[in-house]
Amino acid sequence: MSAPQPVYLSDYQPPAYWVTHTELTFDLDPAQTRVKARLSLERHPDVDAATPLFLNGEQLTLTSLAIDGKTLDESAYRVDGQGLTIYNPPSAFTLESDVTLAPEANTALEGLYQSSGMYCTQCEAEGFRRITYYPDRPDVMATFRVTVIGDKTREPVLLANGNPVEQGELEGNRHFVTWEDPHPKPCYLFALVAGDLKKIEDHFTTMNGRKVTLQLWVEAENVAKTDHAMASLKRAMTWDEETYGREYDLDLFMIVAVNDFNMGAMENKGLNIFNSAAVLTHPDTATDAAFQQVEGIVAHEYFHNWSGNRVTCRDWFQLSLKEGFTVFRDQCFTADTNSAPVKRIQDVSFFRTAQFAEDAGPTAHPVRPDHYIEITNFYTLTVYEKGAEIVRMLRNLVGWEAFRRGSDLYFSRFDGQAVTIEDFVICMEEVSGVDLGQFMRWYEQAGTPEIDAQGEYDYAHAEYHLTLRQRTPATPGQTDKESLHIPVRMGLVGTKSGQDLTLTLDGEKQGKDTVVHLREDEQTFVFTEVAEAPVPSLLRHFSAPVKMHFPYSREDLAFLLTHDSDGFNRWDAGQRLAMLALDDLIAAHRNGVEKVMDSRVTDAYRALLATPTDDKAVLAEMLALPTEAYIAEQQPLVDIDAIHAAREFVRQSLAMALRDEFIAVYEANQSNERYAPTPEQIGQRSLKNVALSYLMSIEDEQAITFCQTQFEAEHNMTDVRHALTLLVHSDRDDLASPALKAFGEKWSHDPLVMDQWFTIQVTRPQEDALERVKHLMQHPAFSLKNPNKVRALIGSFAQNRINFHRLDGAGYALLADVVIELNRLNPEIAARLITPLTRWQRFDETRQALMHEQLERIKAQPLSSNVYEVVEKALA
Ligand code: PHE
Ligand code: ZN
Repeated sequence: MSAPQPVYLSDYQPPAYWVTHTELTFDLDPAQTRVKARLSLERHPDVDAATPLFLNGEQLTLTSLAIDGKTLDESAYRVDGQGLTIYNPPSAFTLESDVTLAPEANTALEGLYQSSGMYCTQCEAEGFRRITYYPDRPDVMATFRVTVIGDKTREPVLLANGNPVEQGELEGNRHFVTWEDPHPKPCYLFALVAGDLKKIEDHFTTMNGRKVTLQLWVEAENVAKTDHAMASLKRAMTWDEETYGREYDLDLFMIVAVNDFNMGAMENKGLNIFNSAAVLTHPDTATDAAFQQVEGIVAHEYFHNWSGNRVTCRDWFQLSLKEGFTVFRDQCFTADTNSAPVKRIQDVSFFRTAQFAEDAGPTAHPVRPDHYIEITNFYTLTVYEKGAEIVRMLRNLVGWEAFRRGSDLYFSRFDGQAVTIEDFVICMEEVSGVDLGQFMRWYEQAGTPEIDAQGEYDYAHAEYHLTLRQRTPATPGQTDKESLHIPVRMGLVGTKSGQDLTLTLDGEKQGKDTVVHLREDEQTFVFTEVAEAPVPSLLRHFSAPVKMHFPYSREDLAFLLTHDSDGFNRWDAGQRLAMLALDDLIAAHRNGVEKVMDSRVTDAYRALLATPTDDKAVLAEMLALPTEAYIAEQQPLVDIDAIHAAREFVRQSLAMALRDEFIAVYEANQSNERYAPTPEQIGQRSLKNVALSYLMSIEDEQAITFCQTQFEAEHNMTDVRHALTLLVHSDRDDLASPALKAFGEKWSHDPLVMDQWFTIQVTRPQEDALERVKHLMQHPAFSLKNPNKVRALIGSFAQNRINFHRLDGAGYALLADVVIELNRLNPEIAARLITPLTRWQRFDETRQALMHEQLERIKAQPLSSNVYEVVEKALA
């Protein structure tokens, strides 16, 4: 087999033929679905007549082909594994094709497949080519008319994009529905669903008084789990009208929940398809985190209706045009709807752990990549989350008011078109007059920029000199980096007054909080009229996706932790302070020296617990130690065992020193209120549960009783799951085993709860975690064909750092075994699962060798292009 070849952004050519209208008829059958397509095609005026027409098509059986009603001679076309080439087509014509395909055999979950018996589709990015022969690229946009024919008993519900325009009965217990979507769209937004589904219906009146019908389609047993998604949808619709002036544009908006889905959800026009985990909630089965995730994903997909669907991407290199912007929009929605500081803390904390790691590894790529082998490998944290950080910087650079005008301009100028990232940025430049030329490099340069900051207070002149130096480390294929335009939001906190000082820069008063613009490799900013020695508060709100280094002392950090006016940086000061202590303990562990807890950290936590606060969720975040993954991200070389030992030591030391405080917090935050996923309740539960986690780290008798009571009370899944996790992750198997058993039996009918049951077990720190994974892979509720199960069991195990990185290599071997099997079943999921192995360079030599060995073993297999691309990069 020859190696798969990359596609390059620089090779982009407009399509030779446009499709102006598409008509499809699906005659559904698990083994032999027939798809008839009738495409209205027009040659691009700049293309010469001899240019053949190429249509993508994979895993299809072609049964007939005609142009303008005339069957095509076999010499007039050619079919291969990639698609169909038609020689000498007319300049404008109708192409009719007939193909068959087998949804029941489709385990890749791309194209038309079956999930729990129902039919559904996934076309982004390149799945439509598994449905019919078509120019499968986002810059070909057509109106669609789709007829779905199914069995009346098995598929009473037949859905597609747009509005239903016709329906009727057919022979042999069959029926059909015809759908029309008036908005021209690329084929990646096509969707079809057919099955025995129940609907929940509601309505929304738009800002211009149009009444929209909202439908959620689920399996009968899930009807009771839809309230939150429906309410979230309505909030999102209102928010997009109020914030961006965007109104929904069809009479009907549908969401369908499916059990087998590769990603979270998909924004198909008028017919969003969701992983059931991203839409179904109930207080008894879903945690607070799940409720919040559902709200965010429902909003995200809805927002795509404008940022993605009405204005779409010219090619897949522009993916961040729709994803970065839409993630930014959903982040702001969640911040507005819930607690803004908590949302920012959670997003940044995740970003600095996972995206920084991606940027530092062999698969690092720019937010706009310039080549790829398999586009599904580029639905990454870089394209999504770093893309969102770039849009956030844009908003801050031009200001919200201009940003909104830029967004209006973008949507009106490019409505119905497939465009590029430049088109978006130019709108922002036009409305604001801000020069974004250098800023564009954020899209092109991979790697996390680092800033080395230094500050000096000049008493004699009452000046503070802040020097910032930037560098971006080399990444694969990009050795020389240019300097970026980095907005650094900051303040100076007076050490005497404990207050933000008024900032004067270049003789101009800036207020107490300002943004300095770092554009050169090195710049010094001189603040004048600085009446007292300050501690700088840098990169407030994480104003740019960079690593900021400043030689803070522990006293500085303890000071910022209590005095910084910026809540986000107060949290960050706490994280930095904990990191300094952790660094010492990691070194002590490595050198076999006795570990000593830094009393300054204990004092800081004691002070936190003693300060009255309204925002319990923020306090819970402040009390949470950096995760092992985040700590690892900060180390030059990851020492798995030392990190684990150091973090456990801090947890236990804090629990022992502050036991009474934690018990008091736990008891003060009990509540008998009826469950609601409100920010207040969520904050209260997080705080209570953080306290319980600390107490359980020392297996305090009182805490064990709390845990058991909390588990048995069955008040809501957040509390039940937390208590169960703490029991299972403790050494008290006598309590954990019966609890696990009871939970597993109670919820054996609910796949989403069983996912949690799997995760809880395979993330335990005890040595038997790997054996448990193997054992659970045989459990009737587990299936390699279901991505949620793979993520819950295998993906979660790979996050169990001390056990996945076992020194006998058994964790790596297990992951490789699964990747090899999944490579055949579902290449997209297989490729994602390899990620932890690709980071081998970060570890000690023994582990490097073991990981390498598994990568080589995978590489020796016949590989899908997805897995091939990742393994190739990892071993390069
Ligand atoms: N476009 C989807 C989103 O909203 C993600 C997705 C990509 C889903 C590819 C399925 C396949 O982010
Ligand atoms: Zn998206």
